[in-house]
Amino acid sequence: MALWVPVLGALLMFIVAYLCLPGLFRQRRPQEPPLDKGAVPWLGHAMAFRKNMFEFLKRMQAKHGDVFTLQLGGRYFTFVMDPLSFGPILRDAQRKLDFVQYARELVLKVFGYQALPEDNRMIHSASAKHLMGDGLQELNKSMLHSLSLVMLGPNGRSPDTSCWHEDGLFHFCYNTLFKAGYLSLFGYTKDKEQDLLQAEDLFARFRKFDLLFPRFVYSLLGPQEWLEVGRLQSFFHKRLSVSHSLEKDGISKWISYMLQFLREQGVDAAMQSKFNFMMLWASQGNIGPTSFWALLFLLKHPEAMQAVREEATHVLGEARLEAKQSFVFEFSALQHTPVLDSVLEETLRLASAPTLLRVVHDDNSILKMASGREYLLRRGDIVALFPYLSVQMDPDIHPEPTVFKYNRFLNPNGSRKVDFYKAGTKIHHYTMPWGWGVSICPGRFLALSEMKLFVLLMVTHFDLELVDPNTPVPAVDPKRWGFGTTQPSHDVRFRYRLQPMK
Ligand code: HEM
Repeated sequence: MALWVPVLGALLMFIVAYLCLPGLFRQRRPQEPPLDKGAVPWLGHAMAFRKNMFEFLKRMQAKHGDVFTLQLGGRYFTFVMDPLSFGPILRDAQRKLDFVQYARELVLKVFGYQALPEDNRMIHSASAKHLMGDGLQELNKSMLHSLSLVMLGPNGRSPDTSCWHEDGLFHFCYNTLFKAGYLSLFGYTKDKEQDLLQAEDLFARFRKFDLLFPRFVYSLLGPQEWLEVGRLQSFFHKRLSVSHSLEKDGISKWISYMLQFLREQGVDAAMQSKFNFMMLWASQGNIGPTSFWALLFLLKHPEAMQAVREEATHVLGEARLEAKQSFVFEFSALQHTPVLDSVLEETLRLASAPTLLRVVHDDNSILKMASGREYLLRRGDIVALFPYLSVQMDPDIHPEPTVFKYNRFLNPNGSRKVDFYKAGTKIHHYTMPWGWGVSICPGRFLALSEMKLFVLLMVTHFDLELVDPNTPVPAVDPKRWGFGTTQPSHDVRFRYRLQPMK
């Protein structure tokens, strides 16, 4: 035993030295952005960053300006904070920045999925075929059917649905949209009651995984939590296995198309299940939380609620739902709701906070800023954009940026407003809730349709109110900055009931 102690000690020192030395010796070279390695070797600023990325980056921007390189857990991230300089990064005409490499590492860790080099292109072409145009119409119908099933039950409206129910608004939105979204993408069995129970169980576990997710990505879980994540991953791999899928009706063409592609590439059944898990996550992780913020803002801003209700009545007519009926909906109305469109755009501006990451391919790659200044970047470093801070919260682009203004994206004549300026220059990227460029969310049109459908059903068929109308809008859970839609630090109680039959 005594012999092993020095050997282990030497091994440990070797590992520490291997990890820390490159960081210790790295110095800013001429023409590189300001370098801030933080006080702790290898970790750099990782702890402050993970604790509250938004506040931390604000401090870094105040200290270094619009471009700076940070050491975070052994890697170097160059943050670009000037949105007028985003164009060349997002277009990346010379293919010097790589989205796929980082994404592949992440999905292997989180979902156990070993990505193929063609996946990114395949997912985007499947989505162009099946999540837009005619494919979207089909999915809208399927989503209406699923929302009816989840909100009214398998037999349509029952007499007791006009009673008041109380719930957490976040839980209600996430739970309802998750179950409906999951069923419309992954299909049904013949037994609808059982489908609902299974979807409920799936949501409970999805939520457990979701709560662990930010610390899992940052490798900050305790031993018990690691085991729990492993169990949850196995559960999802099993429940979303292709053999289960084959027993179902109405599996969406989007999912079928992508699985067919994987089969043709020789991907085995176990890996296809992991792919399904990844798609469940991508398709359901943000819709519920975004709809929560939208409904909460409407409940806190009666003038906005009234404008949305008036518009809904105008395009859909008075809501009517008799006993044993499911929701009926005129889908063409989704194209004629500028007020609701503005509400959702404003909600996404306030609530969607992804980080966009690209790995630098070559040494001495040039980063050209709008000011004309050029910086050199090193191979393997990561270029990072955090548009929530640098675009969506910029008071120059969006005056009073923290305030919800339901008509911020409406012109005085009621059409969609697309003209926004920074320092007097018209800005192309004035909100970026879906990311941009090669990695832009391919499900954004479906996401908007689903959220519009849900909000329209809620405001036309239901009475809703906050249990405490004076309850403030909760703060954002700071651990979730950088991971898509933010979540509240705590839930908000509300009441709802189906409007009585007329
Ligand atoms: C409010 C809802 C949603 C928001 C805010 C959202 C946002 C995003 C963001 C920010 C990204 C990553 C961009 C990046 O890494 O640069 C993304 C990726 C993705 N989203 Fe969404 N999304 C939503 C809903 C959906 C839906 C409904 C689907 C599918 C039905 C979907 C499918 C995907 C997929 C497959 C990717 C990965 C794309 C790739 O690998 O290039 N999303 N989404």
